[in-house]
Order: sequence, then structure tokens, then C-alpha cells
Amino acid sequence: MTIQPPHPTDLSKIARVAENTGVFSAEELRVVRQMLDTFFRPAPDDDYEFLISRNGAPDSVAGFACFGPTPFTDRIWDLYWICVDRTQQCTGIGSQLLRQIENDLRTRGARAIYLETSDSTAYAPARRFYERHGYERVAHLDDFYAPGEGKVMYRKVLQK
Ligand SMILES: CC(C)(COP(=O)(O)OP(=O)(O)OC[C@H]1O[C@@H](n2cnc3c(N)ncnc32)[C@H](O)[C@@H]1OP(=O)(O)O)[C@@H](O)C(=O)NCCC(=O)NCCS
Repeated sequence: MTIQPPHPTDLSKIARVAENTGVFSAEELRVVRQMLDTFFRPAPDDDYEFLISRNGAPDSVAGFACFGPTPFTDRIWDLYWICVDRTQQCTGIGSQLLRQIENDLRTRGARAIYLETSDSTAYAPARRFYERHGYERVAHLDDFYAPGEGKVMYRKVLQK
């Protein structure tokens, strides 16, 4: 398993991994594509970074993560997406992606990583995954995404 930045030829495979999880809405999938387009622009800005996991074939995409510096903060980063191919979940790929991002960002001086997710049942495995990786719940906003569906914010402090 290798973790590396994606190549433009990986774009549709990354989008397919996101689609196949079945947890993201059409709007969320459109945003993933927009972020990928921004990332692959000839003169990319520094808002988003992507890493993918290749598991087996050199052109395979088993999972991806997207993260970036949070605007107007001192060394705070957002984890926007982390997603593993449905058929390859629970084999350690997500953990490896997350650890790699944390190690990279720690080396780059990041103070903390924040992420947001839904409090719905569909995201229970994702919340457990973050908690097992040391992310602490720092906020819960009821009815944020929709009536009955709130937002949970998590934080992992990397260094003071
Ligand atoms: C959340 C997500 C990214 C986790 O990725 P993953 O690759 O499945 O995660 P891991 O395999 O590293 O760990 C998941 C579980 O598998 C277990 N596991 C890890 N390696 C394992 C192995 N070799 N054999 C069996 N189980 C294993 C871990 O103990 C972990 O248990 P937990 O659910 O209690 O935390 C993935 O499930 C996913 O893509 N979900 C859909 C999209 C999503 O919800 N994304 C987050 C919101 S943006």
C-alpha cells in the first residue's frame, strides 16, 4: 500500500471511490469534484491537498483524503474528506491515510486538525474511526444539516 499525491489520470477513480461509499449526497459528490478540479488546475492554489492510497496496481485508487489550511487561522488545518473504496474498508487504508496526513502536518508545524461530520447513523462508523484515532468531539450542533441531522466537530491537537 502506498500513499501519494494523485495524478490527473486518477480523477475519475477518486470520484468513483466517493460515489461508491453510498454515504455522500449528490451535492457533496459535486463538491469533491470541484475540489479535485481546483487541485489539478495548471496553477493550483494552496487551499486543498489530496493524497490517495494505491493498493496493488500502480494505477489503482483504494482511498483518498483531502485537507487544507483553515483560512484566517494560525496553523489550523481542516480535514475535508477521507474515503475508502467500499470493498476495501476495514483493512487499515483509512488509518494509514490519516496517520500520514497527521505526520505530514506535524512536520509542517500544524497545531491541530479539525473536521466536521454528520451525527446521522450513516456516519457512525466514521465517527468511531475518528474517535479511535484520538479525535475529540468539541462541538455538536443540532439540526445543522437538516431537521434531525446535526453536525459534530472533532479536533486533534498535534502540538501547542
Ligand atoms: C471512515 C473510513 C474513511 C474509514 O476507513 P477504513 O479504511 O475503513 O478504516 P480502517 O480500516 O483503517 O479502520 C476501520 C476499522 O477497521 C478495523 N480494521 C483496521 N484494519 C483492519 C484489518 N486489517 N482487519 C480487520 N479490521 C481492521 C479498525 O479497527 C477500525 O475499527 P473501528 O471501526 O472500530 O474504528 C471509511 O469507512 C469510509 O470511507 N467511510 C465512508 C465515507 C465516510 O464516511 N467518510 C468520512 C466522512 S468525510
